[in-house]
Amino acid sequence: MTTSSAPGKVYLFGEHAVVYGEPAVPCAIERRARVSVEPRDDHRVRVEADELTLDGFTVEWGGDTDEQPDVDVPSNLVEAATGYVDEALGQARDALDDPEAGFDVTIESDIPLGGGLGSSAAVVVAAIDAAVRSRGESIDPEELADRAYQAESTVQGGEASRADTYCSAMGGAVRVEGDDTRPIEAPELPLVIGYDGGAGDTGELVAGVRALKDEYEFAADTVETIGDLTREGEQLLAEADPGEEPSPVLLDELGDLMDFNHGLLSALGVSSRSLDRMVWSAREAEAEGAKLTGAGGGGCIVALDRTQATRRALEYSPGCEQAFRAELATEGVRAEE
Ligand code: PMV
Repeated sequence: MTTSSAPGKVYLFGEHAVVYGEPAVPCAIERRARVSVEPRDDHRVRVEADELTLDGFTVEWGGDTDEQPDVDVPSNLVEAATGYVDEALGQARDALDDPEAGFDVTIESDIPLGGGLGSSAAVVVAAIDAAVRSRGESIDPEELADRAYQAESTVQGGEASRADTYCSAMGGAVRVEGDDTRPIEAPELPLVIGYDGGAGDTGELVAGVRALKDEYEFAADTVETIGDLTREGEQLLAEADPGEEPSPVLLDELGDLMDFNHGLLSALGVSSRSLDRMVWSAREAEAEGAKLTGAGGGGCIVALDRTQATRRALEYSPGCEQAFRAELATEGVRAEE
């Protein structure tokens, strides 16, 4: 059995706008997906998942059957999960130059599925890495990030940026602008996450923003403004000393940009009542700033607060199912014992 893990992420700035070539700054967090792979003697694939939100299911496909998996969880979640794993294994077969390779795959994840913390990217990154290594080969993180992006992009019908997959493969904070991807330095930020227990439909949300942007010039301007504030945020991070505690001034300025970013995402129609409620709970608890993270529609918000106040306020906020502090994951994909 070969096991790899990869981290989830939050967007400090720039989701959605990144789809149109603006920069984004995601940041990996210490919540991981672990994927274990065992090569098979036949061409089949068997997937067992013990996900936070999938609650345990097993499906088998490939060979000469085209049966639909018979499982007791919402079919869209199963389809999404199996779709991502199938594409990831396709990339692994391609890297191994063995189009017929079969695998037994086990997924464990403590990243909420579809909640904006990059669960699918983490599963895809860890699955490709574990499948390649299970056959005694290795793959470098840049190639892995590219293959994971190809897999995600296929599942999402071409509407994906490199942000999630690159961040999960590399760890730390990264900047992504079109095909230009690079790690950046960032101090350890006091990140607090609120999760409403739900999930948005990334494809639908991205399509909604595209439609608005095509129809209204001011929506296109909003996307560009997100790009501008992301550049401003990057500049602040670049000026900070990554080895030092972030200064109160830095947190205050980053927080203002996060607040602004949330407002613009909300204007583009990708927030929700529960995300707005959590953002307001964080602001009322005097977080430095708060915004939704990821595609939106439901899922998670990220706030900056050095004190315990935001986490506590979120715990009592209606609609917030879980609140937790997230540490920066400096390591991206890694081999596990
Ligand atoms: O919700 P997530 O973690 O899948 O993030 C989606 C981010 C988008 O910018 C909306 C789409 C993308 O692929 O960048």
